[in-house]
This record gives sequence, C-alpha cells and structure tokens, in this order.
Amino acid sequence: TTTSASLDAVRDATHDSAFLKACRREPVPHTPVWFMRQAGRSLPEYLKVREGIAMLDSCMMPELVAEITLQPVRRHKVDAAIYFSDIVVPLKAIGIDLDIKPGVGPVIAEPIRTRADLARLRDLTPEDVPYVTEAIGMLTAELGATPLIGFAGAPFTLASYLVEGGPSRNHERTKAMMYGDPQLWADLVDRLAEITGAFLKVQIEAGASAVQLFDSWVGALAPADYRRAVLPASAKVFDAVAPYGVPRIHFGVGTGELLGLMGEAGADVVGVDWRVPLDEAARRVGPGKALQGNLDPAVLFAPAPAVEAKTREVLDAAAGLEGHIFNLGHGVMPNMDPDALTRLVEYVHEQTAR
Ligand code: CP3
Repeated sequence: TTTSASLDAVRDATHDSAFLKACRREPVPHTPVWFMRQAGRSLPEYLKVREGIAMLDSCMMPELVAEITLQPVRRHKVDAAIYFSDIVVPLKAIGIDLDIKPGVGPVIAEPIRTRADLARLRDLTPEDVPYVTEAIGMLTAELGATPLIGFAGAPFTLASYLVEGGPSRNHERTKAMMYGDPQLWADLVDRLAEITGAFLKVQIEAGASAVQLFDSWVGALAPADYRRAVLPASAKVFDAVAPYGVPRIHFGVGTGELLGLMGEAGADVVGVDWRVPLDEAARRVGPGKALQGNLDPAVLFAPAPAVEAKTREVLDAAAGLEGHIFNLGHGVMPNMDPDALTRLVEYVHEQTAR
C-alpha cells in the first residue's frame, strides 16, 4: 500500500541520523541533542500561534500541531522533533472528561477511584485520534532526515492524574489504591497499558521514528513497589510496540533508585534526571542500553560560561557510554531564554564533533 511505502521512505530518510544511531548505540558524528518540552512557552513563536486557543484544542488541530512541533527544530537545530501533544490526549480521546488548566496541569472532572469507574476506560482505536495520524503525516514530509519522537504517559503517571483528579505532590489517593486494593490497581494500570500501547502504535504507524514513555512521577515509589505494581504494566506497553523495532525511551523524574528496573521494563534508552551522573547511571542500568540526559534545566538560568561548564561535566560523565543522547534532566521551563537553548545545542555539537 501507499502507506507502507511512505513509511519505508521515512525509515530510510531518518535511519542514519545521529539521534537514531545513538539510540542503537552505534558511532555518531556528534552527540545528538533534543529537549523535553522543547516546543512550548519558552518560544515567542509558540505563544503567538497558540493565542486564544486552549491547550487541548490545539492538540487536535493537525496543522497547528505540525507547526508547533517544527518550531524548535527550525530555531535550535535539535537532532529530533517531539510530537506536540500532551499525556492526557489519549484519555480525552476515549471520552474522559478532562481539561488542562493553565499553570496547573491536567484536571479530571470525575476521578477514577472504584471498580465501576474502570468501565469508563475503553479501548483506543486509530479512529479516535485522526488528528495524530494527519499531523504526523505532515510532519514527516517536512522533517526529512530529522526523526520524530512520538510519546505517551506511562500507566503510573496517567493513573496518578486519573485517581487524584489532577496534579498531586504526594500521590496519596493513588498509593492508597495501590496498597489498599492491589487487584483494582493492577487492573487500572493494565487498562492504561492497553490504551497507551495502542496510542503509541498509531504514532509509529503514522511515521514516528522513536517513542518516549514518560513516567514523570514514578520516582515517588520505592523499587520493590515499582517492581510489583508498575513494571508489569510499563513492560506491557513496551512489548506492544516491540515488533516495530523503533527505539523505546523511558524517562521519569527522581528515578535514581529505579533506573535498572526502568531499563528492565523494556526500554532501549533510559532517560536520567540531573541527580545521578551518567557514568553512575550506566552502572545502575547495566549494559545494552543507551542513556539520555541529563543537564539540570535550571542551569540554563545561569550565565553562559556556567552553562558550558555544567554541560562539560555531563559530557565528561557520558564519555565512556556506548550511546548518549544529550537532553535536560527534565523539561524546558516556560520562562527560559530560548537563545540559551540554541547556544547549548551548538556547544554540544561542537564539543562532541568526531
Ligand atoms: O516536549 C514537547 O515539546 C512536547 C510537548 C509536551 C507537552 N506535554 C505539551 C504541554 C509533552 C512531551 C508533554 C508531556 C507531559 N504532560 C508530561 C510528561 C513530561 C514531563 O514534563 O514530565 C506531563 C507530566 C504532562 C502533564 C502536564 N500538561 C503538565 C504538568 C502541564 C503544565 C501545566 C502548566 O501550565 O504549567 C501540561 C500542559 C502542557 N503540556 C503545556 C504544554 C506546552 C503548557 C500549556 C500551554 O502551553 O498552554
């Protein structure tokens, strides 16, 4: 079919990119760089095109999604694009009543807290997210050799929003369910794994060259609880997309004690925040996986010489790794100077040119 022929063309065009080579732990011409949350409020051109359009509405407008996704690629010359969306988009797509409140985050109208609530989490089909397929089609045509990263929220992080009803510091209702009704919890994260797996498949079949599973808040758990209550669901997501052979990245914040287990869940690339140096992270993750990270995003608020010194520390810690993708230890912050990010991309490229 035309679709599979154009998918092959995308695979061919992006195959030898520095980003995909690093994910595969092959030699690279320079260390590839991209930033989590590289699209968004740090860019004046983003604020301009988003004016008067609510966040979730913007995620369902394919031309706007394509434009916003391309903005940081044009401006910063990063080595990969990340699909502009949000982790709650697939939940909205299956009919969960939710909104993204500016300055707050996702808010769920009726939280999921009982067995009866589970029935509201129905399967996701490609027909639920036609704008994703359409936007990715536009994007791959524009991106050429630059790979597009698709993404989704991991079962734990999605469950936390659904159970709490919104952002949470301590995840107390989530943990209450996890410890108090392990079977309900297991069924909830299993449901979310199916939805997330289906959502990532849509993105890969539309042309995404890699996927990142964001388990942003899973660092709240101890390793034994992660292994028992979360790992099986995250592994199910990774298994669902394994047949495509595209690199699978797994990231969370404050996950120093979980890095080995997050690799075990099925990631090809483990994302590391700024709290664990990359050489130590490599020991925790073990062989056979690339690492992504890990400059403290707040460093970008310091003067240029300090940014370069801290970046040099990251590159030195990564010097012995088989595969390294440079990134921040978490997302770009809204009030960050975009020029500092552009200079950072240039600096990493120049320092690692081989
Ligand atoms: O990285 C990119 O450039 C792609 C865009 C992206 C967004 N959300 C856009 C967005 C990605 C990868 C996400 C994922 C996401 N969303 C995560 C995981 C990544 C992480 O940071 O750990 C999480 C936890 C969410 C939930 C969420 N959505 C939060 C916490 C917020 C911020 C609320 C706020 O206003 O401060 C959102 C909203 C959101 N998602 C914005 C953007 C650009 C800001 C809304 C706006 O611009 O109006």
